[in-house]
Amino acid sequence: MKLGERLKTIADMVPAGATMADIGTDHAYLPIYLVTRNVISRAIAGDIHYGPYLSAKNAVESRQLAEQVSVRQGNGLEVLSPGEADVAVIAGMGGANIIDILTSRPEVTISIKRLILQPMIAAALVREWLCINNWHIVDEQLVEEDGRLYQIIAAEQGISRQVEPVLYEIGPLLWHTRHPLLKQHIEELISHLRGVLSAMAGSTEAVNSVKYREFNGKLKELEDKLACL
Ligand SMILES: C[S@@+](CC[C@H](N)C(=O)[O-])C[C@H]1O[C@@H](n2cnc3c(N)ncnc32)[C@H](O)[C@@H]1O
Repeated sequence: MKLGERLKTIADMVPAGATMADIGTDHAYLPIYLVTRNVISRAIAGDIHYGPYLSAKNAVESRQLAEQVSVRQGNGLEVLSPGEADVAVIAGMGGANIIDILTSRPEVTISIKRLILQPMIAAALVREWLCINNWHIVDEQLVEEDGRLYQIIAAEQGISRQVEPVLYEIGPLLWHTRHPLLKQHIEELISHLRGVLSAMAGSTEAVNSVKYREFNGKLKELEDKLACL
């Protein structure tokens, strides 16, 4: 099985020998890839919906991998017992859903050593949640696939250093390592924020709101960061 650049980058962040839980696995591409390459010998593939659960199960069984990849249907970390997995991947979902998954089973979350998260939106919320909840960001990557940029965040337990608020948006390690796609990433954040502000500009109520001021402040901070590159 050949993975796309996004899933391949996620796979590269899974330590060899780990027991990995892929939450929201869909076709189980990630666990199948890692197990067939002998990077890991055991994985749990969970999905909340029956359709993806079934396609994961079929994909695993058709490759005779059922002993190594346990496919389970359920909401978030409910498919795991505490200590069962040391790495959890939650990829391809919104940031709020990821946070919901991490907060709803705290006894499981705390037993995981490494989280690998790939929020489709609201990555800043995810980074802030990680920092507040004593997860330290250890790796961050940007991947361009099919004309879209994806942010991937790996975190381990530990007190995180104070982060300048704008770096929740950008990604502290993407900034400090000057990731090759950093400029494009910040330009996209700016363009998105300008779009939101211009949509709000049509309503007096919106223009007078706290959110509008907050977004304008964030835009200025992002523009300042871009000017530093
Ligand atoms: C867009 S797919 C991403 C698949 C794969 N993780 C990837 O990144 O390519 C999102 C999957 O997450 C599942 N999902 C959404 N919310 C979930 C939850 N709370 N618990 C488990 N699975 C969930 C969906 O059913 C869907 O199969």
